[in-house]
Amino acid sequence: MTYDLTVIGTGPGGYVCAIRAAQLGLKVAVVEKDRTFGGTCLNVGCIPSKALLHASHLFDEAGHEFAGMGIKVPAPKLDLPAMMKFKDEGVAGNVNGVAFLLKKNKIDAHIGRGKIVAPGKIEVTGADGKTQTVETKNIVIATGSDVARLKGIEIDEKRIVSSTGALTLEAVPKKLLVVGAGVIGLELGSVWRRLGSEVVVVEFLDRILPGMDAEVGKQFQRILGKQGMTFKLSSKVTAIDSSGKTLKASVEPAAGGAPEMIEADVALIAIGRIPYTEGLGLDYVGVKMEKGRVLIDADFKTNIEGIYAIGDVVAGPMLAHKAEDEGVAVAEILAGQAGHVSYDAIPNVIYTFPEVASVGKTEEELKQAGIPYNTGKFPFTANGRAKVNRTTDGFVKILADAKTDRVLGVHIIGADAGTMITEATIAMEFGGAAEDIARTCHPHPTLSEAVKEAAMAVAKRAIHM
Ligand code: FAD
Ligand code: NAI
Repeated sequence: MTYDLTVIGTGPGGYVCAIRAAQLGLKVAVVEKDRTFGGTCLNVGCIPSKALLHASHLFDEAGHEFAGMGIKVPAPKLDLPAMMKFKDEGVAGNVNGVAFLLKKNKIDAHIGRGKIVAPGKIEVTGADGKTQTVETKNIVIATGSDVARLKGIEIDEKRIVSSTGALTLEAVPKKLLVVGAGVIGLELGSVWRRLGSEVVVVEFLDRILPGMDAEVGKQFQRILGKQGMTFKLSSKVTAIDSSGKTLKASVEPAAGGAPEMIEADVALIAIGRIPYTEGLGLDYVGVKMEKGRVLIDADFKTNIEGIYAIGDVVAGPMLAHKAEDEGVAVAEILAGQAGHVSYDAIPNVIYTFPEVASVGKTEEELKQAGIPYNTGKFPFTANGRAKVNRTTDGFVKILADAKTDRVLGVHIIGADAGTMITEATIAMEFGGAAEDIARTCHPHPTLSEAVKEAAMAVAKRAIHM
């Protein structure tokens, strides 16, 4: 039989694409090399990291905040294997959910590594080495990404770990060295700090979270510093000696110079991710690549007829919801509809405490593009709910076009910032102005009132400041 569509990879891009295409009446198959569906996000990414962030946050609260609210508990004790079980059960629930959805939508699953041997033909090699050929009118490549490695430093996933190993450590490291102050470094660094590690973060650039609004980065570093994380900015790890009982990392100034040695029990390498196309046969069929990513046009089409690509393997932010939206869009295009993704309104959330969330342009980007803008800012210290909950770290900042008042960017540090950013994203998706947010009734008392106040502050009329 010949499928209408075969999706290679069942991460958030792939499985969502397959389901949407099946909903639209296409005969769909997926090819997955791993034992479980769900890709990086469900197995070793978003889901397990958020389980550990949630559990470690409560552990931290129980140890430090409960007494102040009149809740007397004995000093909490960590049962790390039980916490890992909590995480693993959460992952299992999610990956089984994907298996259920694929079945429900009558999507055939071919388990094995897929190789495109010709347009319309995928050779699938199972774990037992047996191969089968899947015939299909269209192919969507959704093979995701893999850990970026540091030259000369071997990741053993025990002492020198990537995010995958950092999600399964068997003991709390006394000292954790994090290489890279990006999303993974700060999220997983936070998990282990809360569980008792001394955490040192080495970052090549002169700031944390490059790409985020600079003011947000600065304040967030201050908050993480208060929590006990230490930072060595403008520095690079050039080697890690793992021959002794503790690791010895050589850390040099980014611009070059004399190295210093930092000892640690575990080193987490979190310097980014790279698109994954190993063994996919792209050279063989002549699919064009650009900077390591599969090159696509505005309709997700590669240079080869009938072959499309989405998610981490193509350009754009490496985020699960971006991959999902691309999956829906390409499925709709293949079914003859007008699939579309609004790349200017893709939110980005860091699930630390407080959370950091943003959508749209940063101040630096607007300045660089020469776009005049007004800024409205509101701190959580002036928000009633944050005050009573004692979660006053952070602020909401809204950047609006100086001429039209249209919202161009929203940046939030604060408890629940990840949920609050959605209203800003919807406003941007609808082409909304700061005044639209300011005149929308927000429930009281909620942290989201800070979003309304920041919108009012754009026109210099915040009430509670
Ligand atoms: P993937 O999820 O990587 O899936 C690709 C799939 O393709 C895999 O299942 C793989 O086995 C399969 N595959 C690859 N090659 C083949 C082949 N030849 N044959 C068959 N199958 C193949 N993003 C967020 O938005 N929010 C978060 O909170 C978040 N947290 C993260 C935490 C961590 C620790 C990490 C590492 C990432 C996190 N991400 C998060 C990023 C997110 O996981 C990715 O953006 C997302 O998984 C990309 O989806 P995808 O479908 O493109 O690829
Ligand atoms: P990242 O790109 O977010 O951060 C990498 C950091 O490492 C950067 O600050 C970079 O300057 C620094 N760096 C690079 N080379 C270095 C070196 N040699 N020495 C020291 N520092 C160096 O990448 P990260 O954190 O690995 O995450 C990968 C991707 O996974 C993210 O970009 C994101 O797309 C996704 N992700 C998303 C999450 C979320 O949405 N909450 C959570 C975790 C991951």
